[in-house]
Amino acid sequence: MAAGRLSFRNVTALAPMVRVGTLPMRLLALDYGADVVYCEELIDIKMAQCERMENGVLGTVDFVAPDGRVMFRTCEKEKARVVFQMGTADPDRALTVARLVEKDVAAIDVNMGCPKEYSTKGGMGAALLSDPDKIEAILKKLVTGVSVPVTCKIRILPSVEETVNLVQRIETTGVAAIAVHGRFKEERPRHPVHCDYIQAVAQAVSIPVIANGGSLDLVKAHSDIEKFRKETGASSVMLARAAMWNPSVFRSQGLLPVEKVMEEYIKYAIRYDNHAFNTKYCLCQMLRDKVESPLGKQVQAAQTNAEISTAYGLQRFYQEVQEELQAKRDALQSDIQLDRPIMDGDVTTLAVRFERREYPPQITPKMFLLEWSRREKLEQPQYHTVQRSQDRAFQSTVTVADRKYRSSLWEKSKKFAEQASAIVCLRVLGVPEGRIGEEDSGLVCKRKREGKANNSSEEGRSKKLHVDVLQETETQEPAVGMNGDKQSTEPSEPAEALKEAPVR
Ligand SMILES: Cc1cc2nc3c(=O)[nH]c(=O)nc-3n(C[C@H](O)[C@H](O)[C@H](O)COP(=O)(O)O)c2cc1C
Repeated sequence: MAAGRLSFRNVTALAPMVRVGTLPMRLLALDYGADVVYCEELIDIKMAQCERMENGVLGTVDFVAPDGRVMFRTCEKEKARVVFQMGTADPDRALTVARLVEKDVAAIDVNMGCPKEYSTKGGMGAALLSDPDKIEAILKKLVTGVSVPVTCKIRILPSVEETVNLVQRIETTGVAAIAVHGRFKEERPRHPVHCDYIQAVAQAVSIPVIANGGSLDLVKAHSDIEKFRKETGASSVMLARAAMWNPSVFRSQGLLPVEKVMEEYIKYAIRYDNHAFNTKYCLCQMLRDKVESPLGKQVQAAQTNAEISTAYGLQRFYQEVQEELQAKRDALQSDIQLDRPIMDGDVTTLAVRFERREYPPQITPKMFLLEWSRREKLEQPQYHTVQRSQDRAFQSTVTVADRKYRSSLWEKSKKFAEQASAIVCLRVLGVPEGRIGEEDSGLVCKRKREGKANNSSEEGRSKKLHVDVLQETETQEPAVGMNGDKQSTEPSEPAEALKEAPVR
């Protein structure tokens, strides 16, 4: 293998696990001593629709679905060790996805072991085991099409001979390694693992074989990893459940108390803005029989990472990270040019922010825009706000007289985002926006509707806009989900399926 390419020889790996194998768990496993970390299985069709986005605030690379969900988040720290696992039954689509992610990961893996119906009915997962031609087509396409190593993960076939034949055929495709989960596809996680099958495979091929399936009765602590390796004759070992229950199983100095591990996990979850539902799911796996304890109940009730932090006494850490992230957000935004309108499709954009202190109390640009629209006999301004997933920031577009305006800067609240879009519209149209000291704004703040009567004579005389502070209407819809809140309540297909039978 060329220097720099990930080696699968004599390594210990975090197995691919839907929901569990997201960024915080992978980083934690690496900290504790895992050599290689697999991401959760991601389905090719969904990944193919994603856009690669660099998240300057979090320092991550995000693969974002059209609905704004972050399907895969990774970062520099794991780049040389993370394996991207996909579910696929189509060589071309597999290659499209592999090319999308190859610069950000260390290897690409194809899942050929998932026995769940959602996977097999699409010809993916364990369905591939009975279609070696398809396996060959997918793997060959990937091996010749990407620059990083390609691997696959299989389950064993009904006989040793069939299993050996299959892996020998797989070896000819040029894959860098093969992970073998030593169970038949009909077997459940509670069934004992067939070390003899893995051993036969390890003897039959010269590429590294990664033994998997030992968590339940063979691997309880780090020292057991070596025993499992010896018993299977494999080059490497891959752990799923043992790592899910306590990722410090990778630690050569021995297991840490799970309470300590959970704290470290939460810190990564906060630092990388992991979705709270995903954070909760992983914590519940670590809590195991303590999931109904007072702490477990607090975790289950939590809706946000902030609430989870509180349950673990990590509020201060949470707050510090939020401040750090906000400072990064501000620094990134201040780099953007501030005073030149730019067209983004059919939207006129300007890099402006709403600074509350720049406006008199009770006066906002939205009021001015509303009042101006009325005077011009235009329809009321319509606000449409989206929230992006990577940092939960908001951006609003306002439509006035069939034209759209928005600030290119993202705001921390929906209200501020709307005000910023109103400012853009007013500035582009050359209409006063109500700022303190605005040169000859020609505007008057009228405090209440009931004051109208008293002011009516003045109104008649003055050309000034009279802004009724109680009339600023909330016409806009709720923020549209470009964000992760929706993301976690709607787990990906594999996650959904695993709710019933968590182990494949
Ligand atoms: C929660 C969970 C999610 C899993 N998701 C995947 C997956 O996405 N891809 C995959 O190939 N296997 C998946 N598996 C199977 C594991 O990778 C592994 O093959 C199996 O759990 C046996 O290993 P173990 O005995 O170390 O747990 C999952 C297992 C669990 C427990």
